[in-house]
Amino acid sequence: MTDKKILRALAGETQDVPPVWMMRQAGRYLPEYRATRAKAGDFLSLCYNSDLATEVTLQPIRRYGFDAAILFADILLVPQALGADLWFVTGEGPRLSTINSQAELDQLRPVADIHETLNPIYQTVRNLSQELPGDITLIGFAGAPWTVATYMIAGRGTPDQGPAHALRQENKAVFEALLERITEATIEYLSAQIAAGAEVVKVFDSWAGSLKGEDFDKYARDPAARIITELKRRHPGIPVIAFPRQAGEKYIGYARETGADCVAVDETVSPEWVAEHLQPDSCVQGNLKSSHMVTGGDAMIAETRHIVEALRGGPHIFNLGHGITPDADPDNVQRMIDAIRG
Ligand code: CP3
Repeated sequence: MTDKKILRALAGETQDVPPVWMMRQAGRYLPEYRATRAKAGDFLSLCYNSDLATEVTLQPIRRYGFDAAILFADILLVPQALGADLWFVTGEGPRLSTINSQAELDQLRPVADIHETLNPIYQTVRNLSQELPGDITLIGFAGAPWTVATYMIAGRGTPDQGPAHALRQENKAVFEALLERITEATIEYLSAQIAAGAEVVKVFDSWAGSLKGEDFDKYARDPAARIITELKRRHPGIPVIAFPRQAGEKYIGYARETGADCVAVDETVSPEWVAEHLQPDSCVQGNLKSSHMVTGGDAMIAETRHIVEALRGGPHIFNLGHGITPDADPDNVQRMIDAIRG
């Protein structure tokens, strides 16, 4: 058995002290991240600079001793590798050229060509697998097809994913063909990350919660199942974490139905509910509300202990319910870790 706590949890082991890492652990709340990003020039240049991306991935490991490092990249690099224009507007977020018709879909590049763009990301993974301490697990990742499609269709982040829902209703053929293209690209992208040394991969379906009923099954669950099945066929034993954020009742059975080894949960479900309904099926990851990293204090400590306590009867990886925000206090992160380990 490995001495990596994350891999042990993913293999189903219940541990006295759960392993911990944080979504967006390399990010703007850290002064050392802001300094390295300034050196790179901008966010996308940082993603494609393997040396600097390696450096920012390692920063939170050095500062806090997290149990996992997550590759520094972004879910929107896949659309870019497929030929979409991508840029980031400071203070606002991503902008992309949009796909709403067959003609626009036809202009995308073939899936086989994505590696030309994404090679620097695989180099970052290779660097990290050389440089990480032996007890730290390296996590690769990609966005899930639905979540990536919401950005490709709208050309930006949207509060309700309206444009993607509209295309799904008005031009189902184009919508489904786009999802299919992203699914295939995601399999190739994650497979290349694993070949380069990623020990676990995580699939982020940040907007899964806006799909209801059969639409959730068809456009969130089924593509995840396909990606996971194919990755495990190509790389037997590779553990996968799935994050169908805000899936609510649809979290139940998700691990079994997709083959995921772990379901990451957001903070809208209670840890007691997660222990009852999800942990019997698989490892679970989560789910401290990220605003605690801003506000800190006794409430943060109490909620951290509450989550650890509620999930101590089965395999658990401690994490936030969503990414840490730029206004978080770096000292609160250390206090959270101390509350888990202490
Ligand atoms: O977790 C990590 O530390 C690894 C790196 C990582 C980033 N993005 C870096 C990033 C990961 C895993 C992601 C995933 C991602 N990217 C998701 C899924 C997870 C989630 O948060 O729901 C999504 C939806 C994106 C798309 C994206 N990237 C948006 C909407 C934005 C702008 C919003 C924001 O926070 O600024 C980004 C930018 C981004 N990705 C930053 C980082 C560190 C901030 C960019 C900067 O430094 O200016």
